[in-house]
Amino acid sequence: METLAKLQAKKNQEKITMLTVYSAALAAVFNKTAVEILLVGDSLGTVFQGRENTLSVTLDEMIYHAQAVRRGAPDKFIAVDLPFMSSQVSAEKTLLNAGQIIKQTGANAVKLEGADKVTLESVRRLTAAGIPVIGHLGFTPQSVHILSGYKVQGRDAAAAKKLKTDAKLLEKAGAFMLVLEMAPAKLAGAITRALKIPTIGIGAGAGCDGQVLVCDDMLGLYPGAPRFVKRYAELDQTITQAVEKYIAEVKRGKFPDTAHSF
Ligand code: KIV
Repeated sequence: METLAKLQAKKNQEKITMLTVYSAALAAVFNKTAVEILLVGDSLGTVFQGRENTLSVTLDEMIYHAQAVRRGAPDKFIAVDLPFMSSQVSAEKTLLNAGQIIKQTGANAVKLEGADKVTLESVRRLTAAGIPVIGHLGFTPQSVHILSGYKVQGRDAAAAKKLKTDAKLLEKAGAFMLVLEMAPAKLAGAITRALKIPTIGIGAGAGCDGQVLVCDDMLGLYPGAPRFVKRYAELDQTITQAVEKYIAEVKRGKFPDTAHSF
């Protein structure tokens, strides 16, 4: 299994790969690959639950999915998102919530969004308590309303400066890795060079230390995938064909045959 030290040592040496996953079955498939980090993202709210955004996802739901993923992928470094309102109230509450995730799921790290006062204090408290933390800047889905929708962040000089400052504050607070979502490639590259910790990009260009994609997006299962997603498979078509074949065979009496009967 990857360790925090091994992951950090990959900065400037080898690109890091991360994929989201929400089920034991898919986690077991990913467990057979060389992907370094599995992220139980609160994107499960949109991708798995079919909701409009991630805001309604609960801590219990995150734990439920993270337990499934750990069962499927016993050998992987697993990070779990702190869902909306589990890390915004106070550092004490964030610590208790992150502790619950780590204790009940066997995950290796948690991820939280933003770099406001409570978040920075939370990163310090979690790190001091022995919980590795991944930061998340740029487009932060839990702030979708205040950001007025799914938009690239850090486009103007002031916003770019703030993003860079926030990244440094998160690093100083103890974050061991930083996800940069939907930021201009040039800016994400500059932030990556300015930090000692690895950055993981999603819609943030090739200058980051690694990349993350949402599993259903890259496997071709999610119709609403954003422009930055590359589809590495077309499972939607594969599954449709399989289901159509199954229906046809049942209707024609071709399935089950003797090989599939007792
Ligand atoms: O929730 C999630 O899946 C994420 C990734 C998109 C980075 O935060």
